Amino acid sequence: MCGYKVREWPGGDVMSAAAEVRRATTPQDLFQAAGEEIIRAANDAVAQRGRFTIALSGGSTPKNLYTLIAANASATLPWDQMFFFWGDERHVPLDDADSNYRMAKESLLSKAPIPPANIFPVPAENPDVSAAAEAYEQTIRKFFGLKPGEFPRFDLILLGMGPDGHTAGLFPETQALQEKSRLVVANWVEKLKTSRITFTLPVLNAARCVAFLVSGIDKAPALHEIFEGNAPGDKYPSKLVHPSEGRLIWFVDRAAASELSIAA
Ligand code: 6PG
Repeated sequence: MCGYKVREWPGGDVMSAAAEVRRATTPQDLFQAAGEEIIRAANDAVAQRGRFTIALSGGSTPKNLYTLIAANASATLPWDQMFFFWGDERHVPLDDADSNYRMAKESLLSKAPIPPANIFPVPAENPDVSAAAEAYEQTIRKFFGLKPGEFPRFDLILLGMGPDGHTAGLFPETQALQEKSRLVVANWVEKLKTSRITFTLPVLNAARCVAFLVSGIDKAPALHEIFEGNAPGDKYPSKLVHPSEGRLIWFVDRAAASELSIAA
């Protein structure tokens, strides 16, 4: 990734061509910064287009962000005009402890006045994982009114990153990285011996804004590789996320950014 600069949080403003990196001193500052960005983006989208479409990420990192938003933002968000999707889901029932939907429901969705019709979980309870992915793709095509070959333009897609550089259900050297036309696929992940139901790269790169949330020292080597390394994208899939007509924001904390040349 060429040309990135850093915005210290709390602190001054800096933008760049490829990516905006917002480095937070603590994880709590990180969630505060991301929360404020979501509030700003939601109100902007509703003011301009009458609705805000957001795809939530799973894993452990965003849970504190969702909790913070539920606790602090209830009055400042246009909940009626907000529409919730998931960038990826584990192939488990929605009430399973591993479900990304369940995590979001418990930390945010059940605590905010969101109309149930505005929430679109992945139908991951379907034992046929490919059918679940296909069904979710049809849900998204219908919601956005897409013609064949068109991709949805989410207002905001939240992503995490694994220590191996994976994001959403897009793991290193997996089939889904080659997908050019589907919106959602079932991606077999050999090292996990399971499939993830995941947005494809064309969907991520069609978004108005993609925001990564990366916290912790275990993410530092991959973050270094993504910003300053030469490894190919299929080895570090987060490298392949570049919205073609949108913003790319990396919310990182000091620990995660500790191997970047700007670490000082
Ligand atoms: C998931 C995610 C996945 C996650 C990363 C980071 O379903 O697990 O979508 O891509 O964002 O694995 O996970 P942590 O936040 O738990 O480190």
